[in-house]
Amino acid sequence: MSFTIAIDGPAAAGKGTLSRALAAHFGFGHLDTGLLYRAVGARMLLGEDPIAAALDLDASDVQMEGLRRPEVAQAASKVAAIPEVRSALLDFQRAYARRSGGAVLDGRDIGTVICPDAEAKLFVTATPEIRARRRHDELAAQGADISYETVLAETRERDDRDTARVDSPLRPADDAVIIDTSELDIDTAVASAIAAVLERQDEKAATR
Ligand code: CDP
Ligand code: CDP
Repeated sequence: MSFTIAIDGPAAAGKGTLSRALAAHFGFGHLDTGLLYRAVGARMLLGEDPIAAALDLDASDVQMEGLRRPEVAQAASKVAAIPEVRSALLDFQRAYARRSGGAVLDGRDIGTVICPDAEAKLFVTATPEIRARRRHDELAAQGADISYETVLAETRERDDRDTARVDSPLRPADDAVIIDTSELDIDTAVASAIAAVLERQDEKAATR
């Protein structure tokens, strides 16, 4: 049986944290779709044409070192605005979503474009300041020399690019449950995400 959980939201909202927790709780697989765009962005930074890179992306690309670097995040959001890049990555994501045993996919357009029929959709968000603070803390812990102000500016830049693009912009699906993690610690956010998914599972069971 397949069951798809779609998780969307802006940078550092907590999508990955919630996705991993949901995948562990329900025994589902997890696909971080941002890594696909980061891999294409990283290959563009190495001089490759992004459309060609997206067309022959494979598993080794998402294992490249340094995909979490801020310059790769910016490159990812630039290549993500190219419709041919998005369409090259579509089939892989849809096939993953339908894997037997259930799947959690997180990104920007999962509930709206990749899996509009997902059984559960969450839109995870938080204020830009809080998201930038979290991302800055993560980068600082990894030894990166970058100021909070720079991280905030880059977060806003990426939010703007991701919401303004014509193809698959970042927005909540009409039937998404919104989880604002600004004031939530991780355990509380995870508990509310699990509760939202359980509610959808019950609804699905009731209509069967
Ligand atoms: O995947 P996404 O970029 O949306 O965010 P993440 O990598 O899950 O979370 C970004 C950072 O925020 C991580 O360091 C999380 O531990 C932290 N976080 C938090 O402090 N409180 C939450 N409710 C969720 C995440
Ligand atoms: O972890 P964080 O939220 O900072 O970024 P990410 O999820 O790794 O995504 C990096 C960039 O890829 C985003 O800023 C988007 O431009 C793009 N992306 C997208 O367009 N569609 C997706 N489904 C996932 C990511």
